[in-house]
Amino acid sequence: DQTTHGTHVSGAGGPTDRRFAPQEDGMTLTDRQGHPITDNQNIRTIGDRGPSTLENYHFLEKISHFDRERIPERVVHARGAGAHGYFEAYGTAGGEPVSKYTRAKLFQKAGTRTPVFVRFSTVVHGGHSPETLRDPRGFAVKFYTEDGNWDLVGNNLKIFFIRDPLKFPDMVHAFRPDPVTNINDPERMFDFLSNTPESIHMVTFLFSPWGIPANYRQMQGSGVNTYKWVNAEGTGVLVKYHWEPLNVPIRNLTQQEADEIQGVNYSHATQDLYEAIERGEYPEWELSVQIMSDDEHPELNFDPLDPTKLWDQEQFPFLPVGKMVLNQNPENYFAEVEQAAFGTGVLVDGLDFSDDKLLQGRTFSYSDTQRHRVGTNYLQLPINAPKKHVATNQRDGQMTHFVDRAPDQDPHVNYEPSSIGGLREAKPAGQEHEPAYNEKLVRRKIERANDFKQAGETYRSFEDWERDELIRNLTGALLVCRPAVRDKMIEHFRQADPEYGHRVAESLAKASPEPGRLGSVSEQQGVEMAEEMGRTTD
Ligand code: HEM
Repeated sequence: DQTTHGTHVSGAGGPTDRRFAPQEDGMTLTDRQGHPITDNQNIRTIGDRGPSTLENYHFLEKISHFDRERIPERVVHARGAGAHGYFEAYGTAGGEPVSKYTRAKLFQKAGTRTPVFVRFSTVVHGGHSPETLRDPRGFAVKFYTEDGNWDLVGNNLKIFFIRDPLKFPDMVHAFRPDPVTNINDPERMFDFLSNTPESIHMVTFLFSPWGIPANYRQMQGSGVNTYKWVNAEGTGVLVKYHWEPLNVPIRNLTQQEADEIQGVNYSHATQDLYEAIERGEYPEWELSVQIMSDDEHPELNFDPLDPTKLWDQEQFPFLPVGKMVLNQNPENYFAEVEQAAFGTGVLVDGLDFSDDKLLQGRTFSYSDTQRHRVGTNYLQLPINAPKKHVATNQRDGQMTHFVDRAPDQDPHVNYEPSSIGGLREAKPAGQEHEPAYNEKLVRRKIERANDFKQAGETYRSFEDWERDELIRNLTGALLVCRPAVRDKMIEHFRQADPEYGHRVAESLAKASPEPGRLGSVSEQQGVEMAEEMGRTTD
């Protein structure tokens, strides 16, 4: 009695070929050894009241697997939601053939569809934290291209807090709850930020309504870091990536709106995405690039490799290159969304890294954490594996699921080079991109730091109500900070725009008449005042 149907969780793998014992049908419960389970309600005991015995194999397997159901959370971006879909190329970049800039195959021909998996997330707090928090949103896309996988691991906002990866662990510690009390404390966050002036531009976005996107469908995405595109001749250009939602307006929440939602639903963004896809209202985004020639651009007042800066859109217009449609929900959250592993190192031919330091630091961090979080063989999981030919000489390690050798590869030859049936290198797809360097090895900040100019421009670009919200939100958070921290922040805001600094200072003075950590108000009053003002402590 052999049947070859199978329950196949999409993206999750699973057996497709099953034989049945005589007492089984397709719905019979078994354990993972294939034993049919005849009693799933009672453990085996001596007499019906008696002690249990140690050979309760089914029970021990069931409970010990349950005991291991959790894997470590992502150290950041732990709370997320995902969906499958496709990316469709336009074949052009703002009207010109895209091949002028990149030879990456997925972009070349209008109408070429590449399957994708996307995971949206919040950043700072744990796996079940509310989705209404003031926090950047992750926007990570895995393209399963014909040349292997490409991950574009971005955020909703177009810039970042820091430009040197050495600062990332400190930054995340400061944003997290206090290590003693486990209570969130904006003072720790602003203590770090006030000593990190390059963060002021990002802080200006984060404490404005742009810091709480209404949901995942109505937000933008950005690669944030500067990458390169490489054409058939091996010529590179600097590139930034941007996702813009199609058919729906971008929507953000005020602190009050977010608080109201959070009071009744802390999963509203996951629910919104899931339900829209179930209704057949498939969310779509257009992908655009901004392009600069690959040099230092001394004419600009910032460094093109600095991820705390926007590239002016008049000077460097958005060139649309394709669109993405999300049309399928995951069948299993853990197998697909939780075990998904994205990384900035995952590029395909025609795409390259720039010398953006933050990008280089990230590129080590992702696969490193994933070998720990998911396991050595995380790339064998269906959600992470490319949807194309894979043949490596990597072997063994915990949870080896199969041997990824080529069908014609001699199984004895797990090394390269070989003349007796091993794998061979591929031919290059085009001219290598080979930038030249002649520099001293140094530890040094970039020259054109220019930490405040764009923060001021962003402040002035906001609508009045957005500026009002920004001042209110900053006041709420800074109110619980001691003067040394507040004053430094106010000085930074002042440098960005005198009015910006003045308004924050004035608003704080009104809210807290006496100097001191909480002025003359008690801790409890301070907290209440902060809450009233839309304090943003998450
Ligand atoms: C997730 C590190 C900056 C976007 C992560 C994870 C780590 C990490 C360790 C967890 C990955 C996992 O467990 O699978 C870093 C470091 C950074 C940095 C060291 C700076 C030096 C950024 C920036 C962005 C970003 C600038 C936005 C462009 C994301 C996203 C995720 C993530 C979207 C979640 C991916 C997912 O959905 O699985 N980051 N990150 N990160 N990071 Fe970063």
